[in-house]
Amino acid sequence: MRLRLGVLISGRGSNLQALIDAASDPTYPAEVALVISNKPDAAGLDRARAAGIATLVLRPKDFADKAAHETAMIAALETAGVGLVCLAGYMRLLSPVFVQAWHNRLINIHPSLLPSFPGLDTHARAIEAGVWFHGCTVHYVRVEMDTGPIIVQAAVAVADDDTPDSLSARVLEQEHKAYPLAVRLIAEGRVRLEGDRAVVKRVAMIVPIA
Ligand code: GRF
Repeated sequence: MRLRLGVLISGRGSNLQALIDAASDPTYPAEVALVISNKPDAAGLDRARAAGIATLVLRPKDFADKAAHETAMIAALETAGVGLVCLAGYMRLLSPVFVQAWHNRLINIHPSLLPSFPGLDTHARAIEAGVWFHGCTVHYVRVEMDTGPIIVQAAVAVADDDTPDSLSARVLEQEHKAYPLAVRLIAEGRVRLEGDRAVVKRVAMIVPIA
């Protein structure tokens, strides 16, 4: 059976689309079982519906507090038989309640080479810092934002005339390869956790992913 993914989104959903596209190949070892959005107007919901995938909108303001909202998400993911939760542009910080419930079964994609540039506006900050290389990271989620064992990274060279938009577009291309790759590695049992470090078997250097 393929690994069942629950994908949490808040917006555009291009990384969700990359996972949907990867899973359209029946030999891909995972499938998107459920998409949850905290925003009813998230464009990613249409992408899921177009692919015939179950969607759920859970608005935080409809719940008494953050714990109640997250408890509802946990219940929906469990009911859908989800084995791995993928954050894909989910713009709310998850509390320890959620993070512990899905410990080592919860991953995120972040648009920088962590541990550099956690948080927002990563592309502008990378340009400002003058780094030569920037990129994206897929990592297991820990309670502290944008930390956790690294599963896959992909790098792009920063050009001296890059703008946040041009850089973001090149990084996004890599995100769309890195996320399906990370999910594949997990689904195939090729990621081993050693303490708080992930060791990935048989993937050497992927810079950038071909
Ligand atoms: C991506 O840049 C991702 O790295 C970050 O949020 C953005 C989501 O984009 N976490 P999309 O909704 O997947 O298009």
